[in-house]
Amino acid sequence: MKVAMIGTGYVGLVTGTCFAATGNNVICVDVAEQKIENLKKGIIPIYEPGLEQMVKSAQQRGNLKFTTDIKEALKESDICFIAVGTPMGEDGSADLQYVMNAAREIGQYMIHDMYIVDKSTVPVGTGDKVKAVIQEELDKRGSDLKFDVISNPEFLKEGNACQDFMHPDRVVIGSENAKSIEVMQELYEPFIRSSEFFVTMDIKSAELTKYAANAMLATKISFINEIANISERVGADINKVRRGIASDSRIGYSFLNPGCGYGGSCFPKDVKALIKTSKEHDYEPELLSSVENVNSRQKMVLVHSITEVLGEDLSDKKIAIWGLAFKPGTDDMREAPSIRLIEELKQRGAKVQAYDPQAMNMAKSFYLKDVEVEYINNKYDALNDVDALVIVTEWKEFQSPDFMEIAARMKGNDIFDGRNIYKAKTVKSHGLNYYQIGVRK
Ligand code: UDX
Repeated sequence: MKVAMIGTGYVGLVTGTCFAATGNNVICVDVAEQKIENLKKGIIPIYEPGLEQMVKSAQQRGNLKFTTDIKEALKESDICFIAVGTPMGEDGSADLQYVMNAAREIGQYMIHDMYIVDKSTVPVGTGDKVKAVIQEELDKRGSDLKFDVISNPEFLKEGNACQDFMHPDRVVIGSENAKSIEVMQELYEPFIRSSEFFVTMDIKSAELTKYAANAMLATKISFINEIANISERVGADINKVRRGIASDSRIGYSFLNPGCGYGGSCFPKDVKALIKTSKEHDYEPELLSSVENVNSRQKMVLVHSITEVLGEDLSDKKIAIWGLAFKPGTDDMREAPSIRLIEELKQRGAKVQAYDPQAMNMAKSFYLKDVEVEYINNKYDALNDVDALVIVTEWKEFQSPDFMEIAARMKGNDIFDGRNIYKAKTVKSHGLNYYQIGVRK
């Protein structure tokens, strides 16, 4: 099939590349010229396991192209995906300007009938707006071309996006047009294990499904973080409580890891946008607002723990940070708990030495650009002379470190773990103090 992908961010690039991997002809379009030039040379703008190899293979086969020219992309395709960003606007709602621009351009430049698929995460009702704008542009030029707008939310996890795309838990299609559903079924056929994983519904339900999925996962995280905070105060151990509840198959283990708050491009933004949508429809979403508040508070939990042990004034302290990315497997730092943590530590006068396997450039150039942090290229070197180590992202290489080396390098002996990745007994046996989330000090 012939597919155009508007937007070469995480979602667009992964989706386009995976469709090319199953033999479709894909043309990806983006306004960012440098990005497109780089992609043409096989240079990927993000760190995502497996993606670079997949892009290069498809380019060699000749069925994945990159362009800044939307007219060319529309000419060469029958299905056009909109996969542009929907960043958080000032008031917490999703900013739809990029989606609507894409729709307008489609209406202006399409030259044959098309299927328009919205993959961007958009508030309920956006499908209708996209449809109206395309129609308006067609009318302006007196065209009677036909199109159908389909909603197809994405459920990719950063760091595992290609795998998630190739082996989805489900594919959700919002459309009540039989032909559109058939086309989508054909496109997704190679990825679908059985028909029950191909879920079709109306557009609004598909749009809400995406927000509901992310809100549910965010709720699980804020729930376990709340129980962790209670646990710490009453003298229980959240690691044990977690096992105790998660072993009930109705509850399950996934997304019940306590931590220093969820981050990333989706949960914070989507929970806020869903709250906004609910309020616009005269419904006060108390549970979702609490999910959001608990998370915001959770980003301070490590700071409180550190100041409780080391004191409010950290001006004579040097602190090592392991992990800057919002989660392992990515260089993404959007809404990462590390940002707030480091800013708070700096405000209290601490010196900060940080190490992350992938995200140090991101931190330096964007997210912590104005904050004085020493970036160290090796996890053990980052520990030289520090009073404390703080673990913020649970990268694999932090999971079973040489504790003798850690103890030898550090000046102090306090480890604050924002992800509860060690056995307390093991850490303590090396003369180190170990402070976890949800376990009394
Ligand atoms: C998420 C959804 O999982 C995905 O389906 C959707 O399409 C986009 O948003 P992503 O943001 O890439 O994906 O990361 P995810 O692995 O879901 O983690 C999100 C955040 O939750 C991270 O900050 C992570 O550290 C945190 N988290 C996750 C926890 O604190 N505890 C957990 O148990 C799980």
